[in-house]
Formats: sequence, C-alpha cells, structure tokens
Amino acid sequence: MREAGRLAAGALQAVRAAVKPGITTDELDQIAHQFIVKNGAKPTFLGYRGYPKTICASVNEEVVHGIPGRRVLKEGDIIGVDVGATWKGFVGDTAATFPVGDVPEESRRLIEVTRDSLQRAIAAARVGARLGDISWAVQSAAEDKGFSVVRDFVGHGVGRQMHEEPAVPNFGEAGTGMRLAAGLVIAIEPMVNAGTHHVRVLPDGWTVVTEDGRRSAHFEHTIAILDEGPLILTDPS
Ligand code: MF3
Ligand code: CO
Ligand code: CO
Repeated sequence: MREAGRLAAGALQAVRAAVKPGITTDELDQIAHQFIVKNGAKPTFLGYRGYPKTICASVNEEVVHGIPGRRVLKEGDIIGVDVGATWKGFVGDTAATFPVGDVPEESRRLIEVTRDSLQRAIAAARVGARLGDISWAVQSAAEDKGFSVVRDFVGHGVGRQMHEEPAVPNFGEAGTGMRLAAGLVIAIEPMVNAGTHHVRVLPDGWTVVTEDGRRSAHFEHTIAILDEGPLILTDPS
C-alpha cells in the first residue's frame, strides 16, 4: 500500500506541475495516465462503475467526480484533481485542489482551509481515538472559517478495493463512532464549500456541483493508522 500510495502521489504531482491557463482537463488526464502505466501500475478509476477516465478533474463549483474533457483551464480557476493507482492489487487514492494562476482571495482561503482540515483530521487519526474525532476535526476546521462541509460524499477505508468500510464522514461528533485500531487504512477526503453544503449531480451522472454555484475544494490522502501514529501513504515528498 506504500507503493500504491507513492504512485498515486506521483501522478498527482505530475498533474500539478502541468496545471496552467490554456491546458485542457483531458491533457491533465493523459499526464496522470502515462505516469501510472509507465510505472507498471493501473489507473484505479478507469472502468470503475463505468467511469471513463484516469483522474477526476473538478473545476470551481464542481465538487468531485468532474470528468476530464475539452474544457480549457483559465486564469483564476481552481481545479480539484483526484487520482488512484492500483499496484499489486492494492489501491492508493489521493486528491488536491490547485489554483490556476492568480485566483481570488476567497478561493485561496478555501484551498488553504480545506488542506488544513485534512492535516488536522490526519493528526486525529490515532490508535485508540474514534472515527468521529476525524470527522469533527474536518468539520470544525472548515466551519470555524465560515465554510461548509459536504455531507453526501465521504471518505472511506482503502485496501484491495478503492472503497471499503468504514465510511469516513467529514462531519460528526468527537468521541463517537468506531475505535481506530493499528493497521486500519483509510482515505480522508474533505470536500469544503464556500457557500451551502448542498450539492447535486449533473446529468452526466458523475459531476457533483454545489447547489449555489459557489466554489468547492477537495483534498485527500490515503493514510495508515499505526501504533507510532498516522502514516501518509500518498505523501508526495
Ligand atoms: N477517488 C474518488 C474517491 O476519493 C472516487 C472516484 S470515483 C471514480 O473516493 F469513478 F472516478 F473512480
Ligand atoms: Co479519491
Ligand atoms: Co477516496
């Protein structure tokens, strides 16, 4: 799972280096695809429930599961990129939101707060703590800054399958839920909206957008909960 995580993280970094005004989301998809296959791994998303691409590319008010296509990124956009790699039967799943050139102040804050909510959630993922401690870490970090957390999509266990138990919500109560045991591997993935937490799915059946059209950011790491503390398997460094 370390190897799978490293590959997913590498693909995300390759995409990140290419994000700039003028590039299409399809071109970003190809960059991730090439990175994964040249390393002998499999793009986890491709064919998953009929999903047609290697990455999810979610621009501005798109929350998650945007399908790459001919859309051209422009200065001021923000883009969430989610990528999965399968290596020797195990999955790594990771996402980040990137600014395209210079972006509005609120978008910069949204990205920072979402990244920070993930870091706090990871810090809460300790043996003996509870699932609700992770959820509350995300929710409180986002809401303290005036943003909202999406309810309709959640993090998850990861292993031989991308989506395993338990569900890892981005909202909830500290001190509740299952106790975290050493060896548990989960994907924590805050989806934080500038406005309402309500979302809907576009007619393409995949793209999730905010109901109010305001922007959303998404970060995700696959982590292993170990006796010595949480280990980020999708750490790019
Ligand atoms: N990787 C997403 C998640 O974080 C799920 C992507 S669904 C797919 O759970 F169809 F695009 F693969
Ligand atoms: Co993901
Ligand atoms: Co995930």
